[in-house]
Amino acid sequence: MTGLETMKNRNAITLFGGTGDLTYRKLLPALYNLDVLGQLDDEFKIIVIGRRPYTPDQYIEIARDWVKEHARTKFDEEQFSSYSRRIIYFKMDMTDEEEYRILQMFYDFMRIDQHVYYYAVAPSFFLTITRGLKKYCSENNAKVIVEKPFGENLEKAGMLNDELAEFFGQEEIYHIDHYLGKEMIQNILSLRFKNIIFKGIWNKDFIENIQISAAETVGVGTRASYYDKSGALKDMVQNHLLQVLSLVAMEEPKEEGSRGIHDSQLNLLSAIKPIENVNDSLVMAQYDGYLEEENISKDSKTETYAALKIFVDNERWDGVPFFIRTGKKLGDRETQVVVQFKSIDNAPGNVLVIKIQPDEGVYFQFNAKKPGTEQELQPISLDFCQSCILENRMNTPEAYERLLYACFKGDRSLFSQWDQIVVSWTFVNDLLAKYHEQGAPLYTYPQGSMGPKEADEFVNWIKK
Ligand code: BG6
Repeated sequence: MTGLETMKNRNAITLFGGTGDLTYRKLLPALYNLDVLGQLDDEFKIIVIGRRPYTPDQYIEIARDWVKEHARTKFDEEQFSSYSRRIIYFKMDMTDEEEYRILQMFYDFMRIDQHVYYYAVAPSFFLTITRGLKKYCSENNAKVIVEKPFGENLEKAGMLNDELAEFFGQEEIYHIDHYLGKEMIQNILSLRFKNIIFKGIWNKDFIENIQISAAETVGVGTRASYYDKSGALKDMVQNHLLQVLSLVAMEEPKEEGSRGIHDSQLNLLSAIKPIENVNDSLVMAQYDGYLEEENISKDSKTETYAALKIFVDNERWDGVPFFIRTGKKLGDRETQVVVQFKSIDNAPGNVLVIKIQPDEGVYFQFNAKKPGTEQELQPISLDFCQSCILENRMNTPEAYERLLYACFKGDRSLFSQWDQIVVSWTFVNDLLAKYHEQGAPLYTYPQGSMGPKEADEFVNWIKK
């Protein structure tokens, strides 16, 4: 094969939002890791789109610091220098359709004809970019990765899906939900279905409640313009946390592979009961000081915290509450799933905790006789810390690394599906409409606390 022929189908990923937080913090470090591991083709290029007037060299200098700080693999100057030859900063205004013509000319010049487009921008830009690409760029072999939330509501999500599907084809749309790339979230199915002690008791007869928490210490940071229009329900619940719920509660897939898992998830999401009385089942709150954050409107009613009580309408879960909570500027960063089992003879119920981050592991609490007593009980525990083992840490890809690689290989199993998105948007839309109709309150909570006290009235939130 001549050199020219090899260059004819160069692969590239184009990152829209190239000067945004996501690109710096997650995507460039993830691609660097893939490069270090030899998982990128030799000719693979990373085209970074931004509006700022950087020269390619200036951009590389900026990228260096982010990669150094955020890449999982050890930073190495030589390795970075070879990685940086893949990166090309392309200055353009993504809202100007005509500039896509120049972008296509640039692709032709670079002989790129296998594309992955990554929309690392606020959802309000998704349509604009798609229309620009549609007008001037080739859809030949193209895939698109879209960030969540997909659309700003169900209606816009539908329009967007139609436009994307028309250009790329439904099967080439990759809805990224980086929670699905997290090691311990992937582990949920193994824990549930490959352990006889859990598999048989994963139902209403043995489980009192399930708690899914994603607590963050960070605030809105520099993402105010996006976040203030979104809020915790759309930013975290509609996607990440409902996906986690679906894995925790779904039936065992009937067939192997991604289709079986997706079908089971969809059935579960479709069985979530709409919340009727918001005051009983939803607590929304904003952290003190949110209104003083940069670029937040002074009368913003956006929630930075949400806690929900959900029921699933099927035989397995009849009457079992699922509690979901998430918030920013909380006292601890902690994402976990807690399964609270029922008690026997008033002894404390067993507790299983799937620790997702920052520590990864599994904690199990059970009862035993207190030594030296006749039959006095004490809770004891087994605590497996997966991320404490260096080898595990070294071998565990970051979520974005895993997901980018899966997309390059055409593996859709770790991506959320359009039908799931429709169901979860419907649930969240309906909930928000009821929240406003019923005039439910927006509480406040102090920064560094674990959220508003009203959410503690739902359940005794377990923290391990
Ligand atoms: C993103 C949200 O999807 O997930 C952010 O938009 C949030 O608001 C982030 O901070 C949390 O991700 P992680 O991996 O830190 O739990």
